Amino acid sequence: MKRLILATILLLPTLAFASTEGPLLEQAHTDLNNKTSLQEGAKLFANYCLGCHSANYMRFERIGKDLGFTEEEVKQSLMYTTDKIGETMKIALKPADGITWFGMAPPDLSVTARSRGVNWLYTYLLTFYLDPKRPLGVNNLMFKDVAMPHVLWERQGWQKPIYETVKDAEGQEHQVLTKLELVDKTNEKERVEKYRQEVLNLVTFLEYMGEPTKLERQRLGMWVLLYLFIFLIVAYLLKREYWKDIH
Ligand code: HEC
Repeated sequence: MKRLILATILLLPTLAFASTEGPLLEQAHTDLNNKTSLQEGAKLFANYCLGCHSANYMRFERIGKDLGFTEEEVKQSLMYTTDKIGETMKIALKPADGITWFGMAPPDLSVTARSRGVNWLYTYLLTFYLDPKRPLGVNNLMFKDVAMPHVLWERQGWQKPIYETVKDAEGQEHQVLTKLELVDKTNEKERVEKYRQEVLNLVTFLEYMGEPTKLERQRLGMWVLLYLFIFLIVAYLLKREYWKDIH
């Protein structure tokens, strides 16, 4: 019995992993200490996402401080929807217009990195593909029949789906989407690498937004470790001092 319980406990994380993350998920190796990545991601977010999505829990001022932008830089590269630096990242789009245009209001993205996970977001932004059956002509591997247009198409280029015919257990043939390919293959390798880096920056920014205190916690963590280390030396010296006469 004990063994069974132990085996279940050991297996649990893998099972959870298998159910939430399919084999398809790409790994986003985000680094919240990378200021350049965060800054570039913030700019992309303000340029390409803030038109439709808000981030109602984030203030421009805070982003400036956390990411190392000057007030002038924040105003120039991030603030298109307001001129008050103390304002949160609201959008001009009215929910009713969102419903008319896309069939739904685009959701607030403040905490999406936490609800969806960074790998999901990363893969989502990499896997928009052409699908003439959809109203906007695109679909997504992570989000079937998504209502969002591929807003980063001019950075990535268009991708087309490649299908393969496979037979199932009953001998029935099915078309299965196996991979996505860039339609225009000019400088493919460099373009793919560049786009992946841009999406990584964007996802890093979204991760920061989901939990802005993470940056602070990591910085604090370093000091705490340093303190503990110094304390260890002091404790050791004290111990030596106390035990000197007893030995
Ligand atoms: C033209 C408007 C528009 C723009 C610009 C836009 N989106 Fe969207 N987005 C939408 C809509 C509409 C949905 C809802 C899709 C659905 O539910 O089918 C959505 C959904 C999403 C979702 C899924 C949220 C969830 O958890 O369900 C993510 C993530 C997302 N967008 C990220 C982004 C990012 C990042 C950008 C900037 C690169 C961006 N969007 C730009 C309209 C937009």
